[in-house]
Amino acid sequence: MSAALDDLARHLPGLRLLTGQVDLEHYGRDWTRRWTPAPLAIALPATVEEVQDIVCWANVHRVAIVPSGGRTGLSGGAVAANGELVLSLERMNRVLGFAPADRTLTVQPGVPLAAAQAAAREHGLVYPVDFAARGSCSIGGNIATNAGGIRVIRYGNTREWIAGLKVVTGNGALLDLNRGLVKNSSGYDFRHLLIGSEGTLGIVVEAALKLTEPPPPAQTMLLALPDLDAVLSVFSSFRAKLALQAFEFFTDVALKHVLAHGAQRALDGNHPCYVVTEFDAPDEAAQDAALGLLGEGMEQGWIADGTIAQSEAQAAALWRLREGITESLAPHRPYKNDVSVRIGVVPKYLHAMQALLAREYPQFEVVWFGHIGDGNLHINVLKPDGVADVDFIAQCEHVTKRLAATLKEHGGSISAEHGIGLLKRPYLDSTRGVAEIALMRGVRKVFDPNGILNPGKLFESD
Ligand code: MLT
Ligand code: ZN
Repeated sequence: MSAALDDLARHLPGLRLLTGQVDLEHYGRDWTRRWTPAPLAIALPATVEEVQDIVCWANVHRVAIVPSGGRTGLSGGAVAANGELVLSLERMNRVLGFAPADRTLTVQPGVPLAAAQAAAREHGLVYPVDFAARGSCSIGGNIATNAGGIRVIRYGNTREWIAGLKVVTGNGALLDLNRGLVKNSSGYDFRHLLIGSEGTLGIVVEAALKLTEPPPPAQTMLLALPDLDAVLSVFSSFRAKLALQAFEFFTDVALKHVLAHGAQRALDGNHPCYVVTEFDAPDEAAQDAALGLLGEGMEQGWIADGTIAQSEAQAAALWRLREGITESLAPHRPYKNDVSVRIGVVPKYLHAMQALLAREYPQFEVVWFGHIGDGNLHINVLKPDGVADVDFIAQCEHVTKRLAATLKEHGGSISAEHGIGLLKRPYLDSTRGVAEIALMRGVRKVFDPNGILNPGKLFESD
């Protein structure tokens, strides 16, 4: 294999290549921390041509490539554990331009989400996809997983915000997809095939992001609720009267961890569930409507307590209770589930899941949180001290089979926004039919005939 690497270095003398142990470990893993990183080397191309040359080299030497962004993924999609070449896009991190008439921002894939958001603001607009990893994740990775986050309820997923994509396929061809057009009825839209393909069809080397007007001034509220049913009742009543920008929930168990991790308590007492919601509040009428809903919810018994942020700092403190959850759980090596069902099916699904998890995980701490207004729940199972990793994972995988069957019954998805990667690969068939998976494999063959790009992710290698 070192002969192949020597050949790469000879053909691309300007290419930055890393082979030190620390780099291999750093670039070979993502936030899952489950697989032991073991890449061949790390390549950090600076140009589209270098990306193409690397892919051509990989085809000649039959070396697998793992495309790599911020590696904040939670499904193992960016893990390199089998001698792959990690192709990190972190040096391709420039904002290339803003087109005022089109309201698009053209960026390289290594631009962090927060940097794209900041660049949009410089032009008086917003790039509205948003989530807690905004400072570390990259646009290329967001596209590869069709990232969702906390504003999907208002703005949709990453897919809605991509006007054009440049992509290098598995045989090194450069595709210029949709070219920023608003209307383009000229056949297959490969842009949408690439979005969410987890690096198995092509490597995103440039993206034109759609921007939009900033939302009206918002208010942020924290609500304490007696149970999950109440969360759904409050959601319906708030959605009917307010223009929601976000509606996120978490349980008391999540709160316990986030407080232990340094967040500040905002409501007294212990309550089973909490909601952080943000809604348009351009005038007093909207604020009065929100207070009215709070009062009504309390009368109905759906809301036990609530507070409205009086400043940006207070709003940030309320958001920290929700956005700090992932980090606060990380030391407990959570087994993560990221599932979705149609919004109308959420109540029925929630009851089925509560029963299943209480039955299957009586001995483990289970943390529920997520984007309930999108039908997307994060169910994290924490590893108890003293239980070996392999036993814990075996138990979680056993339960995930049942969880996947329950999801199938309810027409849901085993991955709402984190991707399939390695973690959810065994359960893909709970969400996709046999014929559909066969077509997915066929599509992969067309884009990547030699199976160079991220093999083993999404489905087993051919
Ligand atoms: C979130 O909603 O906080 C993210 O999807 C991350 C996670 O699920 O841990
Ligand atoms: Zn999420």
